[in-house]
This record gives sequence, C-alpha cells and structure tokens, in this order.
Amino acid sequence: MKRLICYLPILLLFMIVLSSCGNNTNNTDNTTTDSTKTGVTQKDWGEFDGKKVSLFTLTNKNGVQVKITNYGGAVTSWITPDKNGNKSSIIIGFDSLQSYLRKPPYFGALIGRYGNRIGNAKFTLDGKAYQLAANDGKNSLHGGNKGFDKVVWDASIADTSTPALTLHYMSKDGEEGYSGNLHVTVQYTLTDNDELKIEYNAETDKPTPVNLTNHSYFNLTGDASNTILNHTLMIDADNYTPVDSTLIPTGEIKSVKRTPFDFTAPQKIGSHIDSVKGGYDHNWVLNRKDSSLKLVAVLSDSLSGRKLEVYTTEPGLQFYTGNFLDGKFINHDGKPINQHTALCMETQHFPNSPNQPKFPSTILKPGEKYHTVTIYKVIVNRQT
Ligand code: BGC
Repeated sequence: MKRLICYLPILLLFMIVLSSCGNNTNNTDNTTTDSTKTGVTQKDWGEFDGKKVSLFTLTNKNGVQVKITNYGGAVTSWITPDKNGNKSSIIIGFDSLQSYLRKPPYFGALIGRYGNRIGNAKFTLDGKAYQLAANDGKNSLHGGNKGFDKVVWDASIADTSTPALTLHYMSKDGEEGYSGNLHVTVQYTLTDNDELKIEYNAETDKPTPVNLTNHSYFNLTGDASNTILNHTLMIDADNYTPVDSTLIPTGEIKSVKRTPFDFTAPQKIGSHIDSVKGGYDHNWVLNRKDSSLKLVAVLSDSLSGRKLEVYTTEPGLQFYTGNFLDGKFINHDGKPINQHTALCMETQHFPNSPNQPKFPSTILKPGEKYHTVTIYKVIVNRQT
C-alpha cells in the first residue's frame, strides 16, 4: 500500500501527459478529432490539390456553433437561436466540399490577395507594371482566377480557452500576377459573447497590394426562402465611393445625404434598392478618425429577432445585396440561393486602391506587419 502511494504521483503525471497528447489538435488523420479543451471538433472533408480538407466546428458555452473549412477558409454555417429559441444558420453555405468546388460566388470564403476589384486588371508599383488575370470583364476580382478562396489553408486549432482556428497560407511570389511571397495568417475565434472574431495578419518579402476580407453571405432569418429586403441596416458612413458601369470607383468620395446610400440611420434595405441600378454593390467610407476597432454597421431582422453588429479596424465596407445570385446553388437548408437571398458586409480597403493614389494605401512593404480585425456579433432579442 505504502508502495502504491509512493508511485501515485508518477502515475498521475503519466496520465496528465497522456491526456495532453490527446489534445493534439493539429491531427488531420482522424476522421473526427474532438478537442474538448478548446471546444473545436475536426472532421475529414476530402481532399483538394493533394491536400487534406477538414470541416471544423467551433462551439461556445451558449451552444452557438460556427463551422469553417480550410478549403478557402470558408465559414460554412453559423448556427444561432432565434427569438423563439429555434436554431438555424445565419450564413449561406453547403454541407460538402464538392459543392464548394463548383465555384460558388465566394460563399463564406477568405478573399485575397486583393479583395474587391482592380481596374483593367493592372497596376503600377515602384515604376513596374503588373498584369493580373481579368476574371470580371476587364477587371480583376477577389484575387484573380485562383484567389485565397480556392486554395487549401494549413489549419491548426488554437490552444486558447475560447474556440479558435488558425489558418495559414503562403502565397508565392508571382501567384496570380502579384509580387512577393506573402505569408497570411487568419485566426477565427468564437467568443462566449457570440462574436465571430477574424484577425488577419500578413508579411511580405517584396512590396505588394494586400486587401484581405471575408465573404460571408448573411440572412438573419436563417431561412433562405426569405430575402434580405426586410432586414434593417445602419452603416456609420457619411460617404461612399460611386462606381462606373464595371463597378470600379470613379475616384470621387460622395456624400450619402439625400441618396439611397444613406444608412446613417437604420433603414430597411428594400426601401430604396430599386433606385440603385443592379442593387447595392458599393464601398462605404466608414466614419473614423483612426484604425481602432469600432462598431461600423448594425443589421437587424424583426422576423427572427436577430441582430448582427459589425466591428472593424478597416476604413471601408462593401455592402453587397447578392445581386448576381441566381438560384443556381442550393443552400444547406435545401432552398435555392436567389437574388437578394443574402447580403455581404465585407470589411476592407477601398476597391481599386492600387490605382487611386487618393484612397488609403493598400501597399504592404517588407518589414511591415499587415494586421486587421473584424468582429461579427449576433444578438438575439429572446421573447419571454
Ligand atoms: C462584389 C460583387 C460580386 C460578389 C461575388 C462582391 O464582393 O462586390 O460585385 O459579384 O462579390 O462575386
């Protein structure tokens, strides 16, 4: 007995070491790895480009769940209760990798190296002209033919007390026409306040434009048979950047006053959408004095009682009302994703900045650290 007591501490130590090995969250071999410590599970989702693709489920203490795949770093669903306690996803997406390989318009994905458009698919930097792929008429959109939304990111479950997933991608010098090896790290965290926090970090070895964002499509009703036209939106922006017929900013910074672009006070999205040709697909110039994290937009839906707050360090917000969605893709709730089924609020720098010296610069230089943060926060007005 005395002997057993003597060995007990060693036994305990052995058990602790064993259990911490079980938390090896980087394991992509198992079909499902449950990392209870961090509230993240990992499921095998197939393969692309010879790399393993997984689906990660982040669950917070309220039971809210966010699913993310390392294919394109896409958020595939965000399941929250509505005012009656019924759970559904406020994000449009799919349940299989195969559906994402059919090239949907950036559903939930991480966008880079340059989110939004670059006019005529070219720019000049330090006297050198760069030609990019023209994948949107004559312009370049969302990083080119194979942007960050179509690559497999290296994933690891962060060793944090809140559920978090770290994704890394190395975009090679010359990829999609851009210069410099760019190391990009994005961390998704689901907090216990029902916030999805996205932190973007990047470093380069040659000067390059960088504009990273997330392309989640929201429908707060959680039912893709409803449009977002009855959602109410506030954007803290007195100005926006008008565009030409190919959606490239003209360079003007225009006041939203007395225009359909005025969301400074909460406004129903459908109220004036008909007077904007094609629907909203514009960049708002956020009111801010510095690059601190700030509340910039609030989206709400009375049907579900859900509200979504957007906080960011970025200077711009692309508000896009899903104008080009055409029913070709089917949401995970079985409903077709039609025009205005969902909307995007892409926090970012202004479109075509590399060709607009008056816009805030998007050039990252060697030795500099790109760092931006965006938070989407869900609030539910529960009915008693
Ligand atoms: C752009 C739209 C585009 C959509 C999906 C948005 O960020 O502003 O013009 O159609 O992405 O491709």
